[in-house]
Amino acid sequence: MKNMSNMTDDLEKILLTEAQLADQVKKMGAAITADYAGKEILMIGVLRGAFIFMADLIRAINLPVAVDFIALSSYGAATSSSGVVRILKDLEENIENKHVLIVEDIIDSGLTIKYLIENLSSRKPASIKICTLMSKPDRRNVEVPIAYNGFTIPDYFVVGYGLDYAEKYRNLPFIGVLKSEIYER
Ligand code: IMP
Ligand code: MG
Repeated sequence: MKNMSNMTDDLEKILLTEAQLADQVKKMGAAITADYAGKEILMIGVLRGAFIFMADLIRAINLPVAVDFIALSSYGAATSSSGVVRILKDLEENIENKHVLIVEDIIDSGLTIKYLIENLSSRKPASIKICTLMSKPDRRNVEVPIAYNGFTIPDYFVVGYGLDYAEKYRNLPFIGVLKSEIYER
């Protein structure tokens, strides 16, 4: 496919293969299943980047799982967070007394997730935890408690498996490092 090869031409390298992702997501699902035994989970996916991770993760969890989604303002075509977060699409469900598990694609500065935790905590859930596919601790500006982290990665700008740059590359089945010339030009 011509378009697929164009997309991979924009990559420096593959960071996480399909097999690595599948294996780690299965382990995360097993850990969540054990930790939440006897409870119902309300999973909140942070749109849009978390949708593929979440789709695979819920199928690796052997417990009742309800899903909801929230969309927050991203930084458009920039590659770092401004710290100004806005809710673009709020939850459909009332989360009061629910066991909320927030599902993120990647935690970078931590500003987005910090805002989300504070906002959702005020709605009185029974518990609230964070599950992220990846974490870039080198770029953290604020302390955030991560209950489940799939991969700790260096300060790369990564795409694929749901993550985009300017709405492109989400459909790559693996995680790749974007060539800096793509976002610097
Ligand atoms: P933070 O507020 O700086 O932690 O940014 C978190 C959000 O920025 C993530 O949910 C992603 O949507 C986006 N983001 C951060 N790093 C990357 C990356 O390397 N690739 C794609 N999106 C990213
Ligand atoms: Mg995101």
